[in-house]
Amino acid sequence: MKSRLPMFLLLFSIMSLQVESQTPAEKKMNQFVSDLMKQMTLEEKIGQLNLPGAGDIVTGQASSSDIGQKIRQGKVGGLFNIRGLDKIRAVQDIAVKDSRLKIPLIFGMDVIHGYETVFPIPLGLAATWDPQLIEQSARIAAIEATAQGICWNFSPMADISRDPRWGRVAEGIGEDPYLGSLVTRAMVRGYQGRDLSMNNTMMATVKHFALYGASEAGRDYNTVDMSHIRMFNEYFPPYKAAIDEGVGCVMSSFNEIDGIPATGNRWLLTDVLRRIWKFKGFVVSDYTSVNEMMNHGLGDLKTVAAMSLKAGLDMDMVGEGFLTTLQESVNDKSVDPAEIDQACRRILEAKYKLGLFEDPYRYCDENRARTEVFTDGHRRIARQTAAESFVLLKNKGNILPLKKSGTIGVIGPLMDNKENMPGTWSVAADLSKATSILTGLKEVGGGNVRILTARGSNLDADSLFDERAGMFGKSTRRENRSPDEMIQEAVAVAIQSDVVVAVLGESSEMTGESSSRTDIGIPKAQQDLLRALVKTGKPLVLVLLTGRPLTLTWEDAHVPSILNVWFGGSEAGRAVADVLFGDVNPSGKLPSTFPQHVGQIPLYYNHKNTGRPLPEGKWFSKYTSNYLDVDNEPLYPFGHGLSYTTFSISDPVVSTTTPKGDQILTVMATLTNTGNTAGKEVIQLYIRDRVGSVTRPVKELKKFQKIELKPGEKKNVRFDINTDDLKFYNYDLIYDWEPGAFDIMLGSNSKDVKTITVNWSK
Ligand code: BGC
Repeated sequence: MKSRLPMFLLLFSIMSLQVESQTPAEKKMNQFVSDLMKQMTLEEKIGQLNLPGAGDIVTGQASSSDIGQKIRQGKVGGLFNIRGLDKIRAVQDIAVKDSRLKIPLIFGMDVIHGYETVFPIPLGLAATWDPQLIEQSARIAAIEATAQGICWNFSPMADISRDPRWGRVAEGIGEDPYLGSLVTRAMVRGYQGRDLSMNNTMMATVKHFALYGASEAGRDYNTVDMSHIRMFNEYFPPYKAAIDEGVGCVMSSFNEIDGIPATGNRWLLTDVLRRIWKFKGFVVSDYTSVNEMMNHGLGDLKTVAAMSLKAGLDMDMVGEGFLTTLQESVNDKSVDPAEIDQACRRILEAKYKLGLFEDPYRYCDENRARTEVFTDGHRRIARQTAAESFVLLKNKGNILPLKKSGTIGVIGPLMDNKENMPGTWSVAADLSKATSILTGLKEVGGGNVRILTARGSNLDADSLFDERAGMFGKSTRRENRSPDEMIQEAVAVAIQSDVVVAVLGESSEMTGESSSRTDIGIPKAQQDLLRALVKTGKPLVLVLLTGRPLTLTWEDAHVPSILNVWFGGSEAGRAVADVLFGDVNPSGKLPSTFPQHVGQIPLYYNHKNTGRPLPEGKWFSKYTSNYLDVDNEPLYPFGHGLSYTTFSISDPVVSTTTPKGDQILTVMATLTNTGNTAGKEVIQLYIRDRVGSVTRPVKELKKFQKIELKPGEKKNVRFDINTDDLKFYNYDLIYDWEPGAFDIMLGSNSKDVKTITVNWSK
């Protein structure tokens, strides 16, 4: 494949190919791995590149199963998604006792938002705008997972997505490269800690490299096509941030890039990843993504496996394309044994760094498994983190917070369903230990609150949809009563209540992998229920469960209070109650735009201006870039989120309006809590580069601070900006800044901002 690297990057990468000096620790590792590889047959080396799934292994079967046989023969490098110390110990036993070279296995899992103590889905974590809190959640996930034998995590997912039809937005970081990069870095730090060989740190995997979140029409696994300038400026930064943070592993994505699937794309896996970004770890494919290249139309298994290896893929997940064809490719000289050596070396290095050669049972400590998983301390932090992730979308008439007295009608198919609280990919969670919102409200509300309940509707009218949306033990327990009967019962409950809390939205499996939707509204059966509740005229709060931005245009127009709680993890039921009753003041901010209508997608705040922008203040103007039927605005912009108190931000003041070169520009403003409750505000700084050698976004998030203030309290907020904050990849993909005018904007979301313009010269 011809290189797609621009000339300057090629030169740069050739210049940097000089031998890098090694630390003594690296030298020791290289020596160890070289000595081991000298003893390995080609077949054993290929075996290290093989990662079968082993979700169904049970202890007794481990030694007799086909996988057991393969491990014994040295044909397996690692296993993933096995839960339980006994099972992991049993298969590790086979590797280190019965295989010729006794090379330990590496054990992976998707611990994407907590292990047994489940934290909010990653999109919810991003909504905290609190990297420290996110790092802490990842730290706890690592402590728990490593206590149960897992030393390799398939997280973080750094895929920017601007298409909420795609179900996997739930697993990601939202739409913004800057916020996304901070979240990704925090997760890598939390999982990996400072020393990978400690028994409570795990190797992280940044996925899905690359651009998986940009699949056409939001349909999972679909084609991606994108300019390089957009990749580098808008989609690559969170992956690169993970590399810069020292992530140990990268997972290739299912989609194609420039007509070559990522898993076999040499430009991506070698030129960008290794030459430009200096990635030193190993690359694993996604689940059967090597084999899927046959469906992409790239040839037979032998061809696509060789192509992937040559592209820079080191480990083959599940499909055994490497295991079954590489030997033959070496025989006919279509693969060089040195290419297999290189991949094998990278995998052995990872095992070395994890300390597995020293002690293959390092992550199998029964005592830790008993005392460090799902602890009260971890659950307390999960509860706090969940509360921080909730976003108050509206609160007209201050219906929230609720009083801890009177009668509350709690209604909806999701109000008493603990299985649906943890959210997608809660692989290690014990769903029976989660808490429903009803239970949380009873506990936190206390004895003076009378709670009445009604189901009100099924998840959706279509029973088949219900089935698809209730997989993996997360059923919403459909009832056979007629919709009218259920709604009437709910209305009767509402009439007897002082306030109604409707818990509606998506079930957890309506998002995540292979859960794309074309209609991203609340399902119709639940909307009908909501309309009937609105008609009662009772004060109404919508508690929204969702793994993606939804279209809530009707809801916004008719429901006074909406609290978006994502899927908040195992402690979410209590956290929702904490926020509804005002024990915690909500402070989450949207990491993704909520559109008014699905037809506006992709809709994102950092878009380009176009040659015919809609004039400010208008919602339609002929021959400008707009629609006939809906205006261009989002329903809730990126960065939006209310509080039980109010804040004001003063006009920004800058240290100079004519900064020069490397000078630091200071931007200051005063943030005041103008309400009666203590609360946190995320003050956001955006920049617009007014003139560039290429078109630039209308604004880009560059900094933010989350600040807590007592009622009436004021704080001076200061941001320092330098030319690094102005840099972007230009037409030649050179990363630099260009002098000129810049709008500096401060606000509480991406739309409501106060602007000051500076002129930055070289
Ligand atoms: C997903 C990955 C995941 C892998 C292993 C794939 O289907 O795309 O995100 O890590 O399975 O479970």
